[in-house]
Amino acid sequence: MRVPQDIAETIVNPTAYADSRIFDAYAWLRANKPLAVAQPEGFDPFWVVTRHADILEISRQNDLFHSGDLATTITSREVDARVRKLTGGSPHLVRSLVQMDAPDHPKYRALTQAWFMPQNIKKLEERIRAIARAAVERMVATGGECDFVREIALHYPLHVVMEILGVPEADEPRMLMLTQELFGAADPELGRTPKESKEPEDLGPIQQVIADFYQYFAKISADRRAHPTGDLATVIANSQIDGQPISEFEAMSYYVIVATAGHDTTSSTTGGAMWALCDNPDQLAWVKEDLSRVPGLIDEAIRWTTPVKTFMRSATADAEVGGQKIGKGDWLMLCYASGNRDETVFDEPNRFRADRSPNKQLAFGYGAHLCLGQHLAKMEMRILYEELLPRIKSVRLNGEPKMSQAVFVNGPKTLPIAFELA
Ligand code: HEM
Repeated sequence: MRVPQDIAETIVNPTAYADSRIFDAYAWLRANKPLAVAQPEGFDPFWVVTRHADILEISRQNDLFHSGDLATTITSREVDARVRKLTGGSPHLVRSLVQMDAPDHPKYRALTQAWFMPQNIKKLEERIRAIARAAVERMVATGGECDFVREIALHYPLHVVMEILGVPEADEPRMLMLTQELFGAADPELGRTPKESKEPEDLGPIQQVIADFYQYFAKISADRRAHPTGDLATVIANSQIDGQPISEFEAMSYYVIVATAGHDTTSSTTGGAMWALCDNPDQLAWVKEDLSRVPGLIDEAIRWTTPVKTFMRSATADAEVGGQKIGKGDWLMLCYASGNRDETVFDEPNRFRADRSPNKQLAFGYGAHLCLGQHLAKMEMRILYEELLPRIKSVRLNGEPKMSQAVFVNGPKTLPIAFELA
């Protein structure tokens, strides 16, 4: 069961994620080889999992399909070797929740789980609404034309997540750059190219970005130990497991996962929603008519954009999924963006429909690693659109939008719009 070589190459080609080629490849795979092995040039072989049901089945079996044994994002042989050399054998540069399995994973997840639950983050609603209103005012002040991604969608979730991590506003541009460099490493307009790297040769651009993150959060962590405030940074800095403080490396990894996972994904989806509204004026009118429809709009924008395209797993024993035998040690790619267009689950999967109900999107993953930040992400986006929609009468594209080139996390990177005020 092999994926044709041209499709295998498409799956690891960042430019295919900037146009519709990846969706064509996914559609072909779902129809013809929904669970098959790909081996692009320079990569170890991996199973490509494209059906909604198979993604859920693998994600829910966390003992059989581990996150931490091999790289968690698709990585070439060369990069994997470099990472292992640097770390003394581990395939991971950081050790955050996404790289952990039981028994450590549930213990580390429990440290912040309560903080991320709806009852707790509800307390942030007023503050987030104030940040959203300021963002909408900035948009309105442009007088009717802006780049919605660069001027609004990139900054709003960044501001929210940096506040919960205690990063002062003045440092946000630096954090934005670091996150874009980490996720957008393959995009020439976003990534840090090797020639700009000032570190020794063996520290590649991504390692350097992570080193910058560590340096930054070490200061915040020390401050929260000395002066606890109750924010998420305080929870992480003072965390203990089995009566012992967590290591500095693991605390830093925690900051890195929240700082990075916490805003690029949400920015992409916020931008994706606006792009979809430009393309579907009927949907804009329908949601504007009754703002209790905004959560449905957000769910559909999450399905539509699916900013986290893939995560990897590896089999801890021989297994069977969807009638296909998987061998012990095999590497698997969960293609969330494909599951979210699965025609056996979604009617008209290639149409944006804010009234989709139920919406079984799986963009936050499933099982033990289900996104911790999902309630926060949905709340942020709901509040922004509740504030924004009553202020505009119409919106349209005002230039060519562009998607970022990245295999792991991607979404719109530029979205010129023109809007009429209500
Ligand atoms: C995990 C997607 C927003 C923090 C995940 C995973 C996905 C995902 C697919 C699962 C990883 C796996 O199974 O290996 C998204 C999307 C978002 C979003 C689509 C926005 C639309 C956020 C936000 C935060 C966050 C706002 C925090 C402020 C996390 C953390 C994990 C995670 C900490 C690791 C959970 C674990 O491994 O136990 N996210 N995320 N995410 N996400 Fe999100």
